Amino acid sequence: MTTRVALVTGGTGGIGTAICKRLADQGHKVATNYRNEEKAKAWQAQMKADGYDFTLVKGDVTSPEDAEAMVREVEKTLGPVDILINNAGITRDGTFHKMSAGQWGDVINTNLNSVYNVTRQVIEGMRDRKWGRIIQISSINGLKGQYGQANYAAAKAGMHGFTISLARENAKLGITVNTVSPGYVATDMVMAVPEEVRAKIAADIPTGRLGKPEEIAYAVAFLVDDQAAWITGSNLDINGGHHMGW
Ligand code: CAA
Repeated sequence: MTTRVALVTGGTGGIGTAICKRLADQGHKVATNYRNEEKAKAWQAQMKADGYDFTLVKGDVTSPEDAEAMVREVEKTLGPVDILINNAGITRDGTFHKMSAGQWGDVINTNLNSVYNVTRQVIEGMRDRKWGRIIQISSINGLKGQYGQANYAAAKAGMHGFTISLARENAKLGITVNTVSPGYVATDMVMAVPEEVRAKIAADIPTGRLGKPEEIAYAVAFLVDDQAAWITGSNLDINGGHHMGW
């Protein structure tokens, strides 16, 4: 298989780490961004111990200038970015009638505006080279809504609107654009949900358990593969049956 350069935003998080590892296992060169240097260096050392050599670039995905600098640095270090996984995301949960403009803005900036900032920096190169894979990591809650997540659900649903438009614009140029929508996966983000709330959510999952980050990374690897060239503009739900529909 062809070795390509992949940029995974928020790669040091739970799902992000699994995606970085899986893409490296597929033979790709993988980079991710970071904001907190100390945390990122510790992560990189842990990854080295696990046998992975990931490139770290400093940059906040909410800033268009940082996104530009980040992508240029990856290009300089590893080469042109052919695979972009828009994975960086945060939660600032709270019922909407109490939600501050800060809670709203932080989530929209980090989860949705970041997608513009980073993708804008790689799309022209992909179009020139006539090959690309762009994947948005959305959420079950962008699809079904969630009590306390008006901000998060709006951003996550917006990511798929972006996917289906970009997929149309770039379909003839060998670039596929897809969304992966994880359900509740055992990461720090989900573990931060109060225990009694989490227990109720988990009880609603037909498979009877939370997902594993590797189960999301598997889908990303599938969509990145050369053989997935005719899958574009689609959303892949991976949620243990928590939300089914068609
Ligand atoms: N459905 C209906 N009612 C609900 C409810 C639900 N799902 N959740 C809470 N309520 C009710 C409570 O029973 C309570 O009712 P009473 O006042 O009548 O007792 C009331 O709402 C509490 O409301 P408050 O506004 O006072 O809320 P709170 O400050 O207690 O906290 C919350 C609300 C922050 C939303 C909290 O319920 C929570 O953290 N929920 C989890 C949200 C969630 O699923 N986040 C996912 C994070 S992980 C992730 O996002 C990854 C991914 O993609 C899946």
